[in-house]
Amino acid sequence: MSALAINATAPIDYTEMEQVSAHLVFPELFEPSTVMLKRRKHRHPDCIASNQMYIPESENAKLALVWLMAPHQLLSLGLQGHTGTGKTELALYLADKLNLPIYIVKVHARMNPQDLEGSYVLDVENNQTVTRKEYGPAAKAYINGGILLLDEFDKASGELTSAMHLLVEGKPWPLEMFKETITKHPQCFVIGTANTYGTGHDERYITSNQMDQAFLSRFMWIETVYPNVIQESKILEKFAPRLPLHLRNDIIKLANAFRDAALGVNRDGDIEDPIQCIFSTRVVVAWAYYIQAFGVFRTLRKSLDSVFLKSVSPEDAEIVNDIVSKVFGDDIDKTLKDLLAKK
Ligand SMILES: Nc1ncnc2c1ncn2[C@@H]1O[C@H](COP(=O)(O)OP(=O)(O)OP(=O)(O)O)[C@@H](O)[C@H]1O
Ligand SMILES: [Mg+2]
Repeated sequence: MSALAINATAPIDYTEMEQVSAHLVFPELFEPSTVMLKRRKHRHPDCIASNQMYIPESENAKLALVWLMAPHQLLSLGLQGHTGTGKTELALYLADKLNLPIYIVKVHARMNPQDLEGSYVLDVENNQTVTRKEYGPAAKAYINGGILLLDEFDKASGELTSAMHLLVEGKPWPLEMFKETITKHPQCFVIGTANTYGTGHDERYITSNQMDQAFLSRFMWIETVYPNVIQESKILEKFAPRLPLHLRNDIIKLANAFRDAALGVNRDGDIEDPIQCIFSTRVVVAWAYYIQAFGVFRTLRKSLDSVFLKSVSPEDAEIVNDIVSKVFGDDIDKTLKDLLAKK
């Protein structure tokens, strides 16, 4: 057998690393320079392509990279921020660019430890029913390496949080179901996303639970915020280049007027009687998309109604309508055709 044929069947070592120019991997974050970084050489089948439209916020993405590139992760990484500030996108983006497989656990209040650890499943082998061990996504990441994304982990129940203590600390993790203790792969990175710092009783994020300090102190926290005007303009330009610039600018102006009313001008919650609804980057992007999808003969109000206004509570409705009128004036009842004709 030739050497080539032997190589063709050799298993791929997915943990093999390569040195690459940081600029080549992250052109949005690094200028062309001598800065190099390490990433996996081969792309694992569990890698997931990230959103092509995502534009990372430079400082937060670099901090997350510092954490990822450090020889050890003494703490797990916690991404905290309001809805639609790009927490999940950031984790997916980093995993994709570094060729790391990513295992997503969508945490919710009724989730139990077995959903993380795995369970025995029934299977058929040679016409016989057999019991097979099936590791859950968290156990898979812990054993094989990759990013374990505990998405929205502030929704976890007390029982689930307790079950995650050792996991987020990178300690040997006993899987109750299998009576087996697994150790953390050196290339396993645990990232959690949350809307709150586990304070519980949040009026806006009512399904978020209280979390104890022992758990929270096992994370290095990065706070994600809504993009500034320049950044959000870049996102919209990439996402909806055919919408006229004046319309894209007004969409961003409206988003910021809503955020002022919900979170205060400094986005620190310092505001009297805040509105509860949030006009996130998710809504910005979705509105731009549906303005186009609704076609040239429908008004802006029609698409805004569908992506946002219908979900606003009656208590917020009056002030929300005032903000829309203040920013858009009559334009909100014009069709896209009329707005395209406007200079
Ligand atoms: N920096 C960005 N560049 C491009 N699009 C963005 C960016 N941030 C957010 N978005 C848009 O907003 C959507 C929501 O982002 P993401 O799911 O990461 O938010 P999140 O912070 O995880 O919110 P939640 O707390 O509701 O889960 C994305 O799918 C994307 O369309
Ligand atoms: Mg998310």
